[in-house]
Amino acid sequence: MDEKEHSEDGYVLLQNPHIREMEQDFLYHISLCSGVQNLEEMFSDVKFVCMGGTPRRMEKFAHYVQQELDIKLPTGSALCDISARSYRYSMYKIGPVISVSHGMGIPSLSILLHEIIKLMYHARCKDVTFLRLGTCGGIGIPAGSLVITEEAIDGRMRNYLELEILGKPVKRPAILDKDLAAELKMIGDSEMTECQTFFGKTMCTNDFYEGQGRLDGAFCDYTMTDKVAFLKEIHSQGVTNMEMESLAFAAICHHARIKGAVICVTLLNRLLGDQISTPKEIMEEWQERPQKLAIKFIKKRLNM
Ligand code: URA
Repeated sequence: MDEKEHSEDGYVLLQNPHIREMEQDFLYHISLCSGVQNLEEMFSDVKFVCMGGTPRRMEKFAHYVQQELDIKLPTGSALCDISARSYRYSMYKIGPVISVSHGMGIPSLSILLHEIIKLMYHARCKDVTFLRLGTCGGIGIPAGSLVITEEAIDGRMRNYLELEILGKPVKRPAILDKDLAAELKMIGDSEMTECQTFFGKTMCTNDFYEGQGRLDGAFCDYTMTDKVAFLKEIHSQGVTNMEMESLAFAAICHHARIKGAVICVTLLNRLLGDQISTPKEIMEEWQERPQKLAIKFIKKRLNM
C-alpha cells in the first residue's frame, strides 16, 4: 500500500521514510516500543485522542470516559497509566479513547504529538480525531466560558508555526478542521447549558506572563495602559482567548492530516485582571467543561 492510499483510507499517515526502516521504534516519552509490544493489538481500535495539560486532569477524564461509555474493566483491574515509566506524560486507554497529558507549552505538546502520531501509525489506527481539552485566559468573555478555536495564531497574529529545522526556518500552517469545530460549537450551544460556548481566534504564546501581557510576572516593562490597549486591539480582531499550545496542535494535526480541534475553558477575563484566584472548587467545575463537551461529541460519534 503506498503512502497516499494509506491516508486516503483514513489510516494515520507517517511522513517519515526512516521509521519504516527501523525494526523497533522506541516512543521514549510515552514508554512504548514498536517491534517489542504489539501496538496494533493494543491500540488499533482508537478513534479519539484527547489531550490536556496535566496528568491529574487526564486521569480524571479517563475515569469519566469509562463511566460515560460504560466500559467494563476485567474484575480486579483498574485504569492504569500506560506511560508511567516515562515520568513525562500520563496516558490512559479507555476503549476507543486515549486520554493523555501534554504538559505546558509548544515544545512539550510537540514531542507528545510526534510520538502519538507514530503510535497511531504503528497501531494502524483509522479515522482518528484529536482533541485538545485545555484552559485559557479569555478576552472580553466571562470566566468559565468554553471557546472552540476557529483559528490558532501566534503572539504576532500569524497563523503558522515557525520551526527551526537543520538551522533553517520552516513554516507550517496552523489549520484546524472547520467542520469538526462547527460540530463541537453546535453541541456546546445546544447541550452545555451551564456556560456559553464561543468560537474565536486563539492566540498561542510562548509564555504565560510577559507573553500574554500580564502585569504580574517577575518582569514587566510595559504599563497597564499598554496591556489593555493590546488586549482590546487583538479582541477587536477576533481573538477570544490565549493559551500556549493551540498553534502547534493545529499545525502538527494539519501536517499529519489528522482532524483536530481545540476546546478550552476560560479561567478569567483578561480585560479584568491577570491573577487566577477563583476558588478551587469552582475552578475544578470549570475545568470539567471541555471534558463534558468532548464526551458529548464522542458519544454522538459512537451513536450512543
Ligand atoms: N492558560 C494560559 O495560557 N493563560 C491563562 O490566562 C490561563 C490559562
